[in-house]
Amino acid sequence: MGKHSVEALSGFVVVTGASSGIGLELAKLAAQDGASLLLVADRDLTEGVAAARAAGAPEVESLQVDLATDEGVEQVIARIGGRRVAALFANAGHGLGKGFLDQEWEEARHVIDTNVTGTVHLIHAVARQMRARNEGRILVTGSIAGHIPGTFQLVYNSTKAFIDDFCNGLSNELKDTNVVITCLEPGPVDTEFFERAGMLDTNAGQGSKSDPAKVARDGYKALLSGDLQITSGFMNKVQSFFSDILPDEVVAQMHRRMAEPKSGSTQPVHASS
Ligand SMILES: NC(=O)c1ccc[n+]([C@@H]2O[C@H](COP(=O)([O-])OP(=O)(O)OC[C@H]3O[C@@H](n4cnc5c(N)ncnc54)[C@H](OP(=O)(O)O)[C@@H]3O)[C@@H](O)[C@H]2O)c1
Repeated sequence: MGKHSVEALSGFVVVTGASSGIGLELAKLAAQDGASLLLVADRDLTEGVAAARAAGAPEVESLQVDLATDEGVEQVIARIGGRRVAALFANAGHGLGKGFLDQEWEEARHVIDTNVTGTVHLIHAVARQMRARNEGRILVTGSIAGHIPGTFQLVYNSTKAFIDDFCNGLSNELKDTNVVITCLEPGPVDTEFFERAGMLDTNAGQGSKSDPAKVARDGYKALLSGDLQITSGFMNKVQSFFSDILPDEVVAQMHRRMAEPKSGSTQPVHASS
């Protein structure tokens, strides 16, 4: 057991992106530990609240805000108020397919504002509070995409490069405290992610994916262990390793084959254009 290892989470836990996918699974895990939850997303959270209650959370609140906006993040901070956050799952995020110059700027900007600005803004407020009381845990959902120049998902991968590095650096800044920062770096996961990014017609959108419940368990366990970083899945560890050592142009070309529009073997009729 490491210096910061604990058996379970208790107290007040905040989960962003809790309406579906990895965030919903993280919320259920914290609920099973008996934590009280604040669930945040940009759509109705009735399902997430019901799932967290069913999993055993004594109290579950929800807040529907756009975390790409300052106002949205400030509403989360205001809702937390003076309460001690035992753990923050900074998980909300989304992707965007197609070539960079074929994307609408407002859509590309929403990816940056959600994945980077909103995420870092919330962490800034919560981690300050944690540092002041010298306890607390933050799991940030980065991605192995952060190691890969993301041809045809360029803005998204670049946001995750920021997040992966940010976690490592923040963890180091806090190394003499009891505040734990853990970066969860999944590979492709079977969630609403690829549909929302308009990538169902790509190899990446149609390829094999991890179970979000398993990815969440890996991240949750790493957070409790006090680990700095967890890449969920053996093949994703291999891919991440080779992405770091191969020349960038080779990795960028490999990503083209995965993410180029219409690169998938079948063309779903309902894929976003
Ligand atoms: N799926 C993958 O292959 C994969 C791989 C590596 C990393 N990740 C990362 O994992 C995290 C969770 O994604 P997922 O795969 O679980 O996808 P998902 O099923 O689409 O879930 C994304 C969650 O983030 C929320 N969200 C997105 N933008 C938001 C905004 N501006 N304001 C508030 N909430 C927002 C969504 O809520 P609303 O729908 O209400 O906006 C939803 O709850 C993301 O950070 C993603 O980048 C995913």
